[in-house]
Amino acid sequence: MLFDPRPKEKREDMFDRDREFEELLRGMEEYPITILIGIRRVGKSSILKVALREYDGIGVYLDARRLYAAGGGTMSQSILVEELTRILAGKGRMGFLAGVKLERISLGGISIKPREATIIDVFELLNGIGERSGKVLLAFDEAQYLRFYGSRGGKDLLAGIAYAYDSLPNLGFVFTGSEVGLLHDFMGIDDYSSPLFGRVYDEVEVKPFTRELSEEFLWRGFKEVGLSVSRGDIQRAVDELDGIPGWLVEFGFNYWKKRNFQKALETTMAKARTMIKEELLELEKRSPRYPLILKAVAMGLSRWGVIRDYVEAKGGPITNARLASLLKNLEKMGWIRKENGEYRIIDPVVERILRG
Ligand SMILES: Nc1ncnc2c1ncn2[C@@H]1O[C@H](COP(=O)(O)OP(=O)(O)OP(=O)(O)O)[C@@H](O)[C@H]1O
Ligand SMILES: [Mg+2]
Repeated sequence: MLFDPRPKEKREDMFDRDREFEELLRGMEEYPITILIGIRRVGKSSILKVALREYDGIGVYLDARRLYAAGGGTMSQSILVEELTRILAGKGRMGFLAGVKLERISLGGISIKPREATIIDVFELLNGIGERSGKVLLAFDEAQYLRFYGSRGGKDLLAGIAYAYDSLPNLGFVFTGSEVGLLHDFMGIDDYSSPLFGRVYDEVEVKPFTRELSEEFLWRGFKEVGLSVSRGDIQRAVDELDGIPGWLVEFGFNYWKKRNFQKALETTMAKARTMIKEELLELEKRSPRYPLILKAVAMGLSRWGVIRDYVEAKGGPITNARLASLLKNLEKMGWIRKENGEYRIIDPVVERILRG
């Protein structure tokens, strides 16, 4: 169902995105590393999950944000190995990998104990499987959280991935991220000191729907649940919510349940407010100035000087260098974009909520 608010797993539940699927599947087959980027709630997890199901070999989905949370804010080798074993053992029950047990993995003549295994052992084992079944893919959703792997900003994992890149042709990786710049920084393809420096990868970008597609999406979703909604209501909803599938789904779902335009929109905005508040709290932990800057930009203070005035009035003096670095980070995290010297909030729903 198009209006199911969870990430989708099946192609028939997805609206559009044929180009993205094709590009992603091609990247998975042809490149050792593929990156899937896009702002929050645009549909990355859904596209990744569906593509992994359609991928012609074994594809393993790993949620780095969840691993990070499960580890209480860190991620160790043993947590990752354990999670991989658990997933592979699950696939075993589905008939894929019968040799995988939580206490021992025995596949193709190789046998390892997950409890004693390094991530490289697991990569090598998966590569061995890949030799027979076609490239095995490890897909890390919200991969910027992998920087919390180990004690060196994720470098130990990157070193393992670089080793796989160079020496294990039957193992591939997919990374998604909504904090695009942070993901690039983490991977460090352009950074001499990164283990992955200079490696070639494919990048697929997921963008919000166009105006036209957003309207068609709502129209199709309503049709699917047997509701007839006026063109005017659909247009008004898109005026408010723009083309981000996550908000459109939320609205469609609420309208379907409440049968009332205004209530559905209010519920959607209330939900958005809760989610965005949580994200702002996370940001505030990194620097209390982030929410101030975002608020300024949301209110239309789009240029450097006025943003600085606002932030100083509310939060005290700030140096140019510090403000520059905070603005750059907000760009990297996908909150704002800079065009012709002016800053804007990327997601109009976020903008409206920040304005209060
Ligand atoms: N093409 C689509 N057709 C139908 N529903 C979609 C589509 N794309 C996304 N959705 C829905 O939008 C919501 C957000 O999608 P998803 O979780 O895949 O996005 P995301 O980019 O991974 O978000 P986040 O940044 O929060 O992880 C989900 O409810 C999902 O079902
Ligand atoms: Mg996601």
